Amino acid sequence: MMSSYSFEKNLPQTDMHVICVHAEKKDSALSELLKGLIERHEFKAEEGDILLHQTPEQTTLLLGVGNPKMTYDFEKIGASVFKNTEKWKEGKISVTIPEVDNAKGLAAVMSGLALRDWRFDELKTKTKKPVKIHDYILVTEKTMAAKEAYAEFDAMVKGNHATREVVSLPPNMIYPESYAKRVKKDLEPLGVKVTLVDEKKLKELGCHAILAVGAGSEKESYLVILEYNKGKSDQAPLVFVGKGVTFDTGGISIKPSANMDDMKHDMAGSGAVYGLFKTLALRKAKVNVVGVLALVENMPSGAAYRPADVITSYSGQTIEVLNTDAEGRVILADALWYAQEHFNPQLVIDLATLTGAMSVALGHEFAGLFSNDEELSSQLIEASNLVEEKLWRMPLHKAFDKDIDSKVADVQNTGTGRGAGSSTAAHFLKRFVKDDMKWAHLDIAGVAWDKKGRDLFEKGATGFGVRLLNRFVEQVFEQ
Ligand code: BES
Ligand code: MN
Ligand code: ZN
Repeated sequence: MMSSYSFEKNLPQTDMHVICVHAEKKDSALSELLKGLIERHEFKAEEGDILLHQTPEQTTLLLGVGNPKMTYDFEKIGASVFKNTEKWKEGKISVTIPEVDNAKGLAAVMSGLALRDWRFDELKTKTKKPVKIHDYILVTEKTMAAKEAYAEFDAMVKGNHATREVVSLPPNMIYPESYAKRVKKDLEPLGVKVTLVDEKKLKELGCHAILAVGAGSEKESYLVILEYNKGKSDQAPLVFVGKGVTFDTGGISIKPSANMDDMKHDMAGSGAVYGLFKTLALRKAKVNVVGVLALVENMPSGAAYRPADVITSYSGQTIEVLNTDAEGRVILADALWYAQEHFNPQLVIDLATLTGAMSVALGHEFAGLFSNDEELSSQLIEASNLVEEKLWRMPLHKAFDKDIDSKVADVQNTGTGRGAGSSTAAHFLKRFVKDDMKWAHLDIAGVAWDKKGRDLFEKGATGFGVRLLNRFVEQVFEQ
């Protein structure tokens, strides 16, 4: 966030004033002058409509907002205010929303403004887009209530931005060790216990799956454990596991060179878990949560793991590697087992940019949800719809499970044919989930990185998962 945001009671003197006009009530609370303007220009105030009115003293921007109802509609208004004013000359920008006076709605507008106010250009030294710093002032009678309501959103905005930051950083700057240290430095002051499990410790434990994937890299692999316990002492923790491949070349089963750079975002699952913990800690959520980040770099080299290798995972199950590019599931095997062995969770949710097949099936609109539990699935889908980080339930089936039986080991890391690649990957993970454990797997391969930009974000890292899981935790465990 570059600009600053505040709620004020009185309309300050600014040279840019944004008035958000409601489509159904566009005649009620506006001055005669503006009403005349709206009529003359046949301004309908549909979502996204804009009308600029300039006088020597002030520019007034009328922004149509349609008929907002849900929190997300209000967030979109804020994002649209930001989009339409970000290039305006520096200084104060006042914003009024004549027909909205509920504190939550106003806080959501500010959330949209702040969410949109993020870019990744810290590595440019010359052609950086000039950043205009604004002081956005949302004018309302209910400043106190709005401010209070915004505190919760502010935590979510900061978590989302933290995720986008780590996902955007290039792989020479963010690799398992530097990533782990960054997470520790950021979260520990907020009351999260952060434990780094290094290769020496992983070897002692017997986490040979994660070690195998990291073997080809010069960089040391890590499991990073996050613990935040502000819930009741008898409440078993919710566990979130994230895939953190800081760069995925494919390893010996090397990827084609075109677009290989996209694979810097192969750590977005772990990034979302990190951002979620930042959000929960900042808003002092009263829950017990554990995070397990599996951090490796997947590289080809003389020391790399190979197709045909058989690895003994932390669970004791043996894995036959058929494709070193199916590495995410291999590291998650150990991370999932670690989570269940060390923390007796009430449920486990993992996030991973796991399969290209996921975006073939669902494009960039939905993430895939795989789960062994009906209730958990509907709770996640409900939360996902509220924040527009949409999930679509995908099938688990014994036929897909059979497809990963290995001839020489307990399980192999790819299916036999080309079909249902996201489901066979999910079944691989399921082999490392204990029988009675509530579990959900979110395959976010299609949604973690956006090439076009969306309502709330410019193109690039989306931070998918932070808003969704924050809402899920809040709705299900804090009511
Ligand atoms: N990280 C990739 C999946 C991916 C692809 C994420 C594109 C985001 C965008 C994963 O490690 C991978 O390479 N999966 C393989 C699995 C295959 C070898 C069974 C894939 O999807 O091709
Ligand atoms: Mn891969
Ligand atoms: Zn990968």
